[in-house]
Amino acid sequence: MMHDFVVNAPTQESSQAGKKLVVEGKAAAIILAGGHGSRLGHNAPKGCFEVFEDISIYQLIAKKVPKGLLIAFMTSDATHAKTVEHFEKANYFGLQKEHVFFFQQQNLPLQNEEGTLLPLSAPDGNGALFWHFSASGILKDWEAKGIEQITVSTVDNVLADPFQPDLIGINALHNNDVSVVAIEREDPREHVGMIVSQNGKLAVQEYSEMADSERLAYAADGGLKHPLANISYFAFSMPFIKKITNLSPAILPLHRAKKKVGDDYFYKSEYFIFDLLAYADKAEVLKLSRKEYFQPFKSMSDLESVRRALKK
Ligand code: UTP
Repeated sequence: MMHDFVVNAPTQESSQAGKKLVVEGKAAAIILAGGHGSRLGHNAPKGCFEVFEDISIYQLIAKKVPKGLLIAFMTSDATHAKTVEHFEKANYFGLQKEHVFFFQQQNLPLQNEEGTLLPLSAPDGNGALFWHFSASGILKDWEAKGIEQITVSTVDNVLADPFQPDLIGINALHNNDVSVVAIEREDPREHVGMIVSQNGKLAVQEYSEMADSERLAYAADGGLKHPLANISYFAFSMPFIKKITNLSPAILPLHRAKKKVGDDYFYKSEYFIFDLLAYADKAEVLKLSRKEYFQPFKSMSDLESVRRALKK
């Protein structure tokens, strides 16, 4: 399948470049941990969930942070207090407290089916992260500390490595504003965004917003027409993050999704992180192995697969 955007594979060069930035302390990571996790139905943030006895997702993430490196968690009203308490109680899982950061996203009001704003709110999605990151003062602090590359991954992909060297390396070596991790799509009905080209630019289209005739379409070579999935796993350059935060967050479109709360349906408005791609001058894909880098934990029915993936 030909793409009209660049798709990279890991190479020895990208891995070495990434490792060098990690050793020099020029790479840092943000974990998206503000979601409600309503499908999981756990009474605490998803990161606090113990996938094995006494081992939470937050602990698994903390163990992947190389000594001396910086990590930040984007939390929300729904997850902030319990997340911070979890790290405090566990003594930051051996990390130094000053290397672990938390910043909070905002809420947006819910709407009813007629579009009337309700006195209820929910987290504003994962797309406005850099504005919240900047408002918290952490962006400035990390810049002063010499951070050049920042990865972003989700709390619920238990195989994501926040310091994946090829991701950091490709973004730096190719002078990309953004590098997007892609995995091969398998089941065409899987709930993942599709990597596409839009107005000549690399873009992601949400599965719920793509017509079935496209989403399920096959190409002449027998493979899927859109063979690459987005798993919300990126590297961003520091200059791009600064450029973005100097613009208004209103540049991002709001996506509306229907949610069921109790017996009623509401519309939730969310910003999506991939909409930032429209503002990148240079964005490329890094294709990684699904088996090695993708195991989502969305609901309890995923628990067995999560455990198996982690035991490998
Ligand atoms: P999901 O889209 O799976 O949403 O988030 P969710 O809220 O965690 O789960 P459900 O849909 O209620 O079951 C994908 C990633 O984006 C983060 C989540 O924490 C997860 O890591 N996220 C989502 C945020 O950080 N903020 C948000 O407002 C929404």
